[in-house]
Amino acid sequence: MEDVLIKVNHISKSFRIAKQKQGIINAVKQMIKPNYILKKAVDDINFTIKEGEMVGFLGPNGSGKSTTVKMLSGILHPDQGSIEVGDFIPYRDRKKYVSQIGVVFGQKSQLAWDLPVLESFDLLKHIYRIEEKKYQDNLERFVTLLDMKDFLLQPVRQLSLGQRMRADIAASLLHSPKIVFFDEPTIGVDVVGKEKIREFIVELNKTDRITMLFTTHDMQDIEKTCDKAIIIDHGTMIYDGTLASIKERFGNTKQIEVTMDQHQEIVTIENVSIENVSQQGDFKYRFSYEKNKISLDWLMKEILSTYSVKDFSIIEPGIESIIRKIYEGQVMI
Ligand SMILES: Nc1ncnc2c1ncn2[C@@H]1O[C@H](COP(=O)(O)OP(=O)(O)OP(=O)(O)O)[C@@H](O)[C@H]1O
Ligand SMILES: [Mg+2]
Repeated sequence: MEDVLIKVNHISKSFRIAKQKQGIINAVKQMIKPNYILKKAVDDINFTIKEGEMVGFLGPNGSGKSTTVKMLSGILHPDQGSIEVGDFIPYRDRKKYVSQIGVVFGQKSQLAWDLPVLESFDLLKHIYRIEEKKYQDNLERFVTLLDMKDFLLQPVRQLSLGQRMRADIAASLLHSPKIVFFDEPTIGVDVVGKEKIREFIVELNKTDRITMLFTTHDMQDIEKTCDKAIIIDHGTMIYDGTLASIKERFGNTKQIEVTMDQHQEIVTIENVSIENVSQQGDFKYRFSYEKNKISLDWLMKEILSTYSVKDFSIIEPGIESIIRKIYEGQVMI
């Protein structure tokens, strides 16, 4: 039985936002007697993560992901509730705690802007008091795995976004933390770069048994690296479970794509929506149905007895389309 490593107990966090009205008079009024409203960014979030687990943390823009990551990494203090990571309380034990974790905020580099990458790493070696052997081993491994050889001597400000992100990820791991919080570590990175980052993360989880919480807007990131997903919306948690069970529970709409051997009159079938997806001279139609209303066998028989079919394939709903529907409120959790 794996041990629980991260305990998030009903945390909430609000921000005070200035309630500014338009116009100079209101700006003056605001200066004299500021008017604030409270915005609840995180509202009673509660979950646990076990040692070695890779968790995808999902939610639309402004749903409270970064705020939660900031509380987990000790930068922000929750207004209510508490967090325990191993023996630490992040926001209380911040000084000791940071040496135990790795953090990447994809939107903001933590490297020294004007220094070459390698010098920036060297600076971290001193800040974290990383012992030389460990530093050299990690450096060598990360340079190879993340393909960083070509830009190690370039100043950080000259790097492309994908290179900068790889450097930031390596930097967050030089001190061999066992727990990492990655907030959008693939944002703006091209397909090849993303793949490299994902492979690296998976490799690290295997070899070093790293525990990870990973926010992203790219479902492929999650599908390729995580076993579990937590989904939040408007600061509240709407899902906590395996990716497989998201598909199981919410992947109710299935599709069959049928290629006909010629143009045919399309007959409506009750509870089935039919869409023409023909391209360049073929005759392709997509039949969508709810698997709790209609069986695949029945629908296939219906199609085969009505049309002259050349080919067909069954399309399972991808995690991406399911998550999109969850965000859009089309499926209730
Ligand atoms: N320092 C702050 N001051 C005031 N409001 C804030 C602050 N930080 C976050 N917020 C507000 O809290 C809410 C949650 O923000 P957060 O950055 O956690 O969202 P997110 O899920 O990370 O979004 P995204 O996917 O766009 O990164 C938003 O409404 C945001 O405007
Ligand atoms: Mg964010």
